[in-house]
Amino acid sequence: MRKGTNEGGRANRKEVNKMIDVAIVGTGGISNFHIQGLLEFPERCRIVALCDIYPEKCEKIKEKYHLDKDIPVFKDHEEMLESGVHIDVVHVCTPPYVHSQISINCMNKGINVLVEKPMAASIEECDMMLAAEKANNVTLGVIAQNRFRNGVYKLKKIADSGLAGKICFARVNSNWWRDHSYYDLWWRGTWEKEGGGPTLNHAVHHIDMLNWIENRSPVEATSVLTNIMHDNAEVEDLSFSCFKYDDDSIAEVIASVVSHGEEQGIVLQCEKARISMPWDVKAEIGMDNGFPDDKKNEELIQKLNKCYEEIEDLKYEGHVGEIDNYLSAIEKGEKPLITGVDGKRTLELITAVYAAGFEKKTISLPVTPDSKYYRTGGIQENAVHFYEKANSVENFEEDKLTVGNY
Ligand SMILES: NC(=O)c1ccc[n+]([C@@H]2O[C@H](COP(=O)([O-])OP(=O)(O)OC[C@H]3O[C@@H](n4cnc5c(N)ncnc54)[C@H](O)[C@@H]3O)[C@@H](O)[C@H]2O)c1
Repeated sequence: MRKGTNEGGRANRKEVNKMIDVAIVGTGGISNFHIQGLLEFPERCRIVALCDIYPEKCEKIKEKYHLDKDIPVFKDHEEMLESGVHIDVVHVCTPPYVHSQISINCMNKGINVLVEKPMAASIEECDMMLAAEKANNVTLGVIAQNRFRNGVYKLKKIADSGLAGKICFARVNSNWWRDHSYYDLWWRGTWEKEGGGPTLNHAVHHIDMLNWIENRSPVEATSVLTNIMHDNAEVEDLSFSCFKYDDDSIAEVIASVVSHGEEQGIVLQCEKARISMPWDVKAEIGMDNGFPDDKKNEELIQKLNKCYEEIEDLKYEGHVGEIDNYLSAIEKGEKPLITGVDGKRTLELITAVYAAGFEKKTISLPVTPDSKYYRTGGIQENAVHFYEKANSVENFEEDKLTVGNY
């Protein structure tokens, strides 16, 4: 195992070694997607260390992916950082409540970080992570792998083309289904460790996509939160939120883990047409009396469909796509597509949704540092406890997970 210092992350990487040395902290369910992604690029990166508070999970992962038996395993990320193993990038795949501490410790050692969603447990923690990125001249990326899905990527391109006109009303369905036992895992279903329900942990994807497509942030948020199917969790299992933009347009987001069939998507009602993911187009033309004509705006429909068909598919989708983009950012010394600033922006909207739901009132955006929800612990201290956490399972036998329908 090659040893070395990790000084000067972004600037010095090329001088140290062409191959990017990656460590993974947290070798549970989602780490499988990271490892599969990294293994797609054997000429560009290699896994040099694994870390988990249950180190036997690292050994299992090594066996599962036929990784080098000599890859060192650590049960504490600080021990890993002090070990002398040369690391260029750490993938943080732990539960959300430790994302910021682990990321900051890595960045303070000059190591680049790709952190799983949600970026952190509070907006304050996001600020601290961004400060560590800047101070250490390293690159922080946040996982929002669904931007690397053909449907979403193409919808964004079409929205940006302006062909359909400005977005008046976005409808975002972050519908998932999780059985009761989902919230039995020790860190899930608690405001402290999971940080929230599907608004945070599932709709984080869709809210990131919404921000990306809208290319702006809303100015206010309202919401209704409930827990209708999971009486073993403190957190919500269903929320309806409404965001308003400064031009009075609106976005509605449903975040759910009670939705059979997991129908997910984004519908953009624009001035001239309705476009969506999954892809569909509708465009009305009005009669003299203002009612929709039986004839539709076929010319525009054809134009939009043609434009959609002409966009080339992405080479890599999902985690593979984002890992490819992040590796390129490190190789070229550029910013990745999904930055810490994006991660913070998404968390800010989610924080506003919780504040609005707990307080049953409209919240102005941006959420400012004087808000009690800004700082770490703010959401937790002011949260509605729908139920108390009933069970706590250390690990499930099955670590297979699904990452949505796109
Ligand atoms: N991008 C996606 O689509 C997606 C999907 C599922 C989960 N996630 C995110 O991935 C993260 C992990 O979720 P998961 O489902 O893999 O959970 P998991 O419990 O299966 O895995 C987390 C692992 O981290 C380990 N761990 C906990 N604290 C640690 C610490 N301090 N140091 C080192 N290891 C530690 C645990 O032992 C566990 O093995 C969460 O942030 C979750 O929101 C993302």
